[in-house]
Amino acid sequence: MRVIAIASGKGGTGKSTLALNLGISLSQVGKKVLIIDADFAMANLGVMLGIERAPISLHNVLMDEVTINDAFYDGPSGIKYVPAGLSIERIKRMNYDRLRDAIKLVKDFDFVLVDCAPGLEKDAVAGILSASEMIIIMVPEPSSLADGLKVKSFAEINNIKIDGIVTNFVTRDKSEIKKQDLETLMNAKVVAELPYDIEVRRAAGEQKPVILKSPDSAFSHALLDLTAFLSGVQIAKTQVKVKKGLLQNLIYTLTHLFGK
Ligand SMILES: Nc1ncnc2c1ncn2[C@@H]1O[C@H](COP(=O)(O)OP(=O)(O)O)[C@@H](O)[C@H]1O
Ligand SMILES: [Mg+2]
Repeated sequence: MRVIAIASGKGGTGKSTLALNLGISLSQVGKKVLIIDADFAMANLGVMLGIERAPISLHNVLMDEVTINDAFYDGPSGIKYVPAGLSIERIKRMNYDRLRDAIKLVKDFDFVLVDCAPGLEKDAVAGILSASEMIIIMVPEPSSLADGLKVKSFAEINNIKIDGIVTNFVTRDKSEIKKQDLETLMNAKVVAELPYDIEVRRAAGEQKPVILKSPDSAFSHALLDLTAFLSGVQIAKTQVKVKKGLLQNLIYTLTHLFGK
């Protein structure tokens, strides 16, 4: 069982979007996947799935009221997930450090994806330290570098293996840090480049995972690189259907196909 923290230096880089869609994608290639919403204060995952009310959540687990196995919910495509819970009152009283021990009770999954809080506050640290591997997701812009490096160093000090960096909101604008430069600066491999894709927002608006709503979108296709990298299963990409006017998708797809 591989326990992978999805972490970032900054908020809003796409951690929850990645955790959910990657989880579904790994499930689609036959892996058993559990996603844990460890962004305790934000509880995004339930919202993304259209299931805001969960009677038992990670909050109960961290208050030692139930075991983590009692907090599993069925998600799309066979994934299971543990929601964070919405009680602000409880957040103050929770013992975040329990997460690590709670995850030790989890069995029978190939992948556990821990959707972490951003940065290195104690809630984020609890998520990171509950994992043995980490994917750092960052927007490839200079202002993300220092924070990304901090998270990476923290993981390395704690013997957490860095699987690689995923860049998100990639537009190929010249202001962006290029893949090779980012790899040099971060001293880590970029294992997937996820484009800025309006389909992600459309899917989020319908509370559906983009990989299910728009499997042929540029984002979904780019995500398959990561699924293949983590699972070892090669996936055939179907033809990208570029909608008229979505020039950005076309440019991205072409660069992606021929630019490497
Ligand atoms: N590649 C993308 N293209 C367009 N919108 C995206 C992309 N990735 C994420 N988003 C949107 O950006 C917002 C933040 O993403 P989210 O996954 O919630 O970030 P985090 O969990 O890191 O805070 C959401 O509204 C999401 O739908
Ligand atoms: Mg989130």
